[in-house]
Amino acid sequence: MKKLRVGIIGAGRITIMHLGSIDYMKDEAELVCICDIIKERANEVAEKYHCRAYYDYVEMLEKEQLDVVHVCTPHYLHIPMVTACIEKGVAVITEKPMGINYEESLKAVELAEKKGVLFGVIFQCRYNDSSILVKQAFESGALGKLKGVVSTLTWSRPDDYYLQSDWKGTWDKEGGGVIIDQVIHSLDLANWIIAEEIESVAASMANRGHEIVKVEDTAEGMIRYKNGIKYNFYCTNNYVFDEPIEIKFFAEKGKALLTYDYAVIQYNDGRVERVETKAPAVVYGGGKEYWGVMHAKQIEQFYHSVQGKEELQISGREALKTQRIVNAIYDSAKSGKIIKF
Ligand SMILES: NC(=O)c1ccc[n+]([C@@H]2O[C@H](COP(=O)([O-])OP(=O)(O)OC[C@H]3O[C@@H](n4cnc5c(N)ncnc54)[C@H](O)[C@@H]3O)[C@@H](O)[C@H]2O)c1
Repeated sequence: MKKLRVGIIGAGRITIMHLGSIDYMKDEAELVCICDIIKERANEVAEKYHCRAYYDYVEMLEKEQLDVVHVCTPHYLHIPMVTACIEKGVAVITEKPMGINYEESLKAVELAEKKGVLFGVIFQCRYNDSSILVKQAFESGALGKLKGVVSTLTWSRPDDYYLQSDWKGTWDKEGGGVIIDQVIHSLDLANWIIAEEIESVAASMANRGHEIVKVEDTAEGMIRYKNGIKYNFYCTNNYVFDEPIEIKFFAEKGKALLTYDYAVIQYNDGRVERVETKAPAVVYGGGKEYWGVMHAKQIEQFYHSVQGKEELQISGREALKTQRIVNAIYDSAKSGKIIKF
């Protein structure tokens, strides 16, 4: 089969995870171009990976015959870039979050569906062995009926972190703080595993520890499901280091604890199941521990969908569920109201 011709837009911090993933898929895909408005960044990748550099993504889409584009740019650019790819008929996978607001994200999903173009969104933590163990324990009925869920995220994003970026910590370019950027992974995992319809979202948020940015660094809230389950969450970027996230599931036949790469299930009959995520054979050449190791697995699944071998798992339509939760949390926290679904 002909190799997929891949381009990347954005050559910032996360891009090494995509470059490593494309290399992991080298028998099926090749990186042909990279684009960044910061020329040195695009040039550096182009030199290292023997591909062409662009500084304008519209020009890149015009000049190259691409099968797949990866979007690795600031949040407010995701939907315009995804839309440009869809318009060109090029399959596109964007980093999380799919967009800054639900309505614009929905429009891109509808356009992709209308044009029959694949649109994927990175939520790599779903591919951790730990996440899969807990998901399957509910799907198989082993844990029985789910009763309640709670999650915590206590990380550190000091002022320095925001000083290094011209878009992080801004309402217009990032779309918020700890909710849209960090806890989004926990919300996505918990909601995917709960797999029920949401009734309402109630939340509050504050900036308690940051002078130089105005977005929230702390939030808590509750997602109420139509079947009565309550999922409570707490998150803050004011801790001293990035503690592994925790998501706890309490069920009829036992309880499960999920961190990013580790899960333990204790059944009421005394059995205990544990798993630690094993990394695929991929070299990312750096990256943060909390990014995990599963970009390659999700990108492999995306490529196989583009080749028609598999059904796309985390489509734009699927990712919209998480986008809707994120935006409902902001709406509730800003208005003080419960947001009904
Ligand atoms: N999945 C994860 O766990 C994870 C982890 C970290 C970051 N991310 C996501 O990755 C994305 C990028 O984050 P980052 O930390 O790499 O940011 P970054 O600021 O380091 O990189 C963004 C890059 O986009 C470039 N860019 C900006 N405007 C552009 C344009 N018009 N055309 C081309 N390039 C442009 C910038 O010059 C920069 O090099 C965000 O969506 C972020 O949330 C995901």
